[in-house]
Amino acid sequence: PGDTLMKHYLQFKDFRAEEYAYLFERARIIKSRFKNYEKYQPLADRTLAMIFEKASTRTRVSFEAGMYQMGGSVVHLTTGDSQLGRAEPIEDSARVISRMVDIVMIRTYEQTKIERFAAHSRVPVINGLTNEFHPCQILADLFTYLEHRAPVGARGYDLDSLKGKVVTWVGDGNNMANTWLQAAEILGFTVHVSTPGGYEVDPAVAGISQRDCYKVFKDPLEACRGAHLVTTDVWTSMGYEAENEARIKAFADWCVDADMMAVAQPDALFMHCLPAHRGEEVTAEVIDGPQSVVWDEAENRMHVQKALMEYLLLGRIG
Ligand code: CP
Ligand code: NVA
Repeated sequence: PGDTLMKHYLQFKDFRAEEYAYLFERARIIKSRFKNYEKYQPLADRTLAMIFEKASTRTRVSFEAGMYQMGGSVVHLTTGDSQLGRAEPIEDSARVISRMVDIVMIRTYEQTKIERFAAHSRVPVINGLTNEFHPCQILADLFTYLEHRAPVGARGYDLDSLKGKVVTWVGDGNNMANTWLQAAEILGFTVHVSTPGGYEVDPAVAGISQRDCYKVFKDPLEACRGAHLVTTDVWTSMGYEAENEARIKAFADWCVDADMMAVAQPDALFMHCLPAHRGEEVTAEVIDGPQSVVWDEAENRMHVQKALMEYLLLGRIG
């Protein structure tokens, strides 16, 4: 039913603004059913394979619980306990796994790896984080922002309310930063980016064509001025552990603190994809303070990904 062309979700720019409006409305409905203990199982008999080449708490629990709630089941694979760790070509893994399941989620290193898998998959593939992107997280973050700040109209949250807003990114020019830039380009807001020298975002890696969707600031406090949302992430992402010591030195001034929140909009929200390191990229006062919505953000991973799997497997409902 619905759209019959198979789609993957490998980066944020794989969907158009109008598809995001649809997904956020489905997520809102699916979340409210969950909160009311209403059974909603459109994915009965469907199977999700989750492939983890890096660690996870939220991504695993949100996809696994979400798939069971929708009536389906899951297969959990890691590098160490599958032939992926013994150099079976990714293309062969894709051909085999996608003959037995209905949808695949992958967390891995290079984006090219997930692209190669998708190119040989018979079923939709979702990016559960790569070195370059984390689209499911930004999907949850935007949904969380809308939930807190946008009125609900007849067709759900008004995505136009994001136009002209400022999201401040403090810290590493990493997978989360790249994905924020793609979201800004598609949805019409601006990202203020402040990173230490050597850790800047690269528009070519971020995959954006317009440079006016972001502004670079040397001083993280200046980047926070007037922001509607302030967000950060770990200084050392998974896969970059060998650089940890150098990063701790380089990032010392990129800790989101009360002074930074004080120059943002008075009702600015604070987000962090988690896991967090209090005292490094954010103070305990900010992440545990009244402007922080990090727990909603984590929970919303499950609701938006249920909407995403429904869309990729069933197309548009109604
Ligand atoms: N935010 C996020 O993706 O968390 P996990 O690494 O725990 O999955
Ligand atoms: N940038 C972090 C996000 C973790 C959810 C990482 O890639 O490790």
